[in-house]
Amino acid sequence: MATKEGLKLVDKDESGVDNAFRADVVLGLLQPQKAVPARWLYDDAGSQLFEDITQVPEYYPTRAETEILREQGASFAEMIGEGCAVVEFGSGSSVKTPLLLSAIGPGAYVPLDISGDFLRAAAADLAVKFPGLPVYPVEADFMRRVELPEQIAAMPKLGFFPGSTIGNMVACTAVDLLRNMRETLGVGAQLLVGMDLIKDESILVAAYDDAAGVTAEFNYNLARRINRELGGNIPLEHLHHEARWNDENARIEMHLVAQSDIAFSVDGREFAMVAGETIHTENSHKFDRRTSNMLLLAGGWEPQVRWLDSERRFSLLLAEAKPNRSAP
Ligand code: AVI
Repeated sequence: MATKEGLKLVDKDESGVDNAFRADVVLGLLQPQKAVPARWLYDDAGSQLFEDITQVPEYYPTRAETEILREQGASFAEMIGEGCAVVEFGSGSSVKTPLLLSAIGPGAYVPLDISGDFLRAAAADLAVKFPGLPVYPVEADFMRRVELPEQIAAMPKLGFFPGSTIGNMVACTAVDLLRNMRETLGVGAQLLVGMDLIKDESILVAAYDDAAGVTAEFNYNLARRINRELGGNIPLEHLHHEARWNDENARIEMHLVAQSDIAFSVDGREFAMVAGETIHTENSHKFDRRTSNMLLLAGGWEPQVRWLDSERRFSLLLAEAKPNRSAP
């Protein structure tokens, strides 16, 4: 697909396979700890499986964050004020975005997404729910600095990044993203970002290894996608989904664990795993007040308010891009 500048956001080969997917998978499988970047979990089937995960009883983050958005409307309105341009990083969720927009009365809504299809669907949905609200979708990779539509140039800006998606990034990537968001939105902007909280290990592991096996399917789907798109023959029947808590790094990790010694090929290359060896497929970092504040500060955002749900499972943080000043 090409943007209006003529730049290709997604580079596909003649069979329609994303070249970055091929490179990430092959390189990742060649590492001593095999790993595939988590963004490749989200093909059409994976995106649907993630939607299904948000409905399983053990997966609390979506419900907890939605509760905060539902309950804290007056507080958001007070801290954010009316008439700002809401810039959502990702194309918007059917439930959360309308809750925020209803609470604060924005001047415009700007969803940013790399997938033009998702973007258009989300924008059309929002236009129906909020007739009269100007919606300016931007097809862009929000991991980089993005040029915003000139129609919102004079409005105060609020970045919105719900879902604790920031937790799926290692710290240096999260900091790069926050710095790019600051560049995109400008000094004086605010950012409302969801971050999941550190809690009892058994609750965390269950949230990522639900009894119905939906998260396991989400993980297996990545191996299926590799087999389908990259001509692989990874034996799924010998892989087991595991969600493990990494305390040192405060994160849940998803792995595909070999149940016996296996050999397979992907993209014409041979790979082997001994029993117990894993392919690491996702990190989901969890935060406390200090680590979430530190992450925001490292990314150029000064924390203003932190809201929690009634069971204190999830946090939504509001931060401001203050002008740089010399230390201390
Ligand atoms: C999208 N992201 C915030 C989810 C999470 O909780 O880290 C992805 C997910 N992986 C397994 N379950 C949900």
